Amino acid sequence: MAVDVILGLQWGDEGKGKIVDYLAERYDIITRFQGGPNAGHTLIFDGQKFVLHTIPSGIFRPTQINLIGNGVVIDPITLEKEIQKLEAASVDYHERLLIARKAHLILPTHRYLDAASEAAKGKAKIGSTLKGIGPTYMDKTGRNGMRAGDILRPDFEARYAALQEKHLQLLQIYPSIEFDLAGEEAKWFASLEKMRQLQQVDGEYYINQALKDGRRILAEGAQGSMLDVDFGTYPFVTSSNTISSGVCNGLGVAPSQIGEVIGISKAYCTRVGSGPFPTEEDNATGERLRSEGGEFGATTGRPRRCGWIDLPQLHYTVMLNGVTQLVITKIDVLNNFESIRAATHYHYDGADRETLPYDLCSVEVEPRYRDFPGWQTSLEGIESYAGLPAGARDYLQALEAQLGVPVTMVSTGPDRKQLILKEEVRVMG
Ligand code: GDP
Ligand code: IMO
Ligand code: MG
Repeated sequence: MAVDVILGLQWGDEGKGKIVDYLAERYDIITRFQGGPNAGHTLIFDGQKFVLHTIPSGIFRPTQINLIGNGVVIDPITLEKEIQKLEAASVDYHERLLIARKAHLILPTHRYLDAASEAAKGKAKIGSTLKGIGPTYMDKTGRNGMRAGDILRPDFEARYAALQEKHLQLLQIYPSIEFDLAGEEAKWFASLEKMRQLQQVDGEYYINQALKDGRRILAEGAQGSMLDVDFGTYPFVTSSNTISSGVCNGLGVAPSQIGEVIGISKAYCTRVGSGPFPTEEDNATGERLRSEGGEFGATTGRPRRCGWIDLPQLHYTVMLNGVTQLVITKIDVLNNFESIRAATHYHYDGADRETLPYDLCSVEVEPRYRDFPGWQTSLEGIESYAGLPAGARDYLQALEAQLGVPVTMVSTGPDRKQLILKEEVRVMG
């Protein structure tokens, strides 16, 4: 048995939630391994829409266990809100939602620090979701953090007060921003009561025992590979390892236990927040992609920047993740375009290249494109790959050929059912 992984190959919002929700019925355990409430994963089925931030996207399947792994950072306030939505939809999560004790906690002052740090950066701001992600991971690596398991310790409040005091001192170096600390703190402690009722586990033992017992496990990535703290467009990245290697640290499984790596890419490309985006169409084409694709952030509501698919970028993330299968989402968004573009190379340092420069932030790359004719027809009701218009199949085949990885699924709309299996998805677990 092995842990299969689903993750985003671009700058996030590739449709991970939808694909995890769809595939979840083939697994016993669905688990998040990094990130936190900066994520917004949208699930649409039976006429209902849910956006998950911390809870894995397998929670709507009736028997699957959903584990929030140790690599995740948890804000109890967001978690409680998500649980309330599950309760309102009569989802029985009690026996099926588990938290790894070693997952770190986002304190109100982490969010406060995030906002102050962004304010201090001015025009150079990252465009953070302001959920406190960076400061929480800084406390984790700085060895100051508080973890989910700590909420059951008798000295919890004293530890909280000590960490908050550190944060308040740190905040003095930043420009002052408006923040209702007392109000947020009261909400945070109230939400902790809900969190105390949830089952906590030693995630690393839990997952390794599950592997021994032959249970099928799916790890759900958050953000996208180009936001990885090591390999993304640094410093315009998030603060965790979003690539497949993050599964090992974020769950406590060995590299030899990773099975299929299912990489998701939109049929075009988006980014929310600041930072380089070589194939961005900051013009009417980008606006058209945004409106046809409903490209507004699931967590912050911000308009997403839009552009064409970028093969040098995807090549890079296919390599970093060891992708074994590709899923292409939102192909329907291209339905009405007369022609479609895919960047095949970057021109920089006097030559066309297939590799990314050391620093995309400081090297101006000029994408070289290949044009494809659009299919200009609706995909509504098409259920087989053979039934797709020839133009769409040609485009998908070109992606497959360029990236050297088979496409196993094509998503043709936001609903769980709007999915075409090109070939049977391989499940290791
Ligand atoms: P995630 O963060 O990767 O889970 O993706 P988000 O939920 O942030 O953003 C994906 C958006 O596209 C959501 O609004 C989905 O409902 C929607 N979506 C997913 N797949 C498709 C698709 O194939 N076609 C269309 N039109 N929308 C899709
Ligand atoms: P999902 O899981 C898209 C971006 C932010 C910002 C940068 C750093 O839904 O794909 P952070 O809050 O982590 O400090 O922000 O990363 N970002 C995302 N963009 N989808 C996400 O998650 C993202 N999570 C963070 O916009 O540019
Ligand atoms: Mg999202």
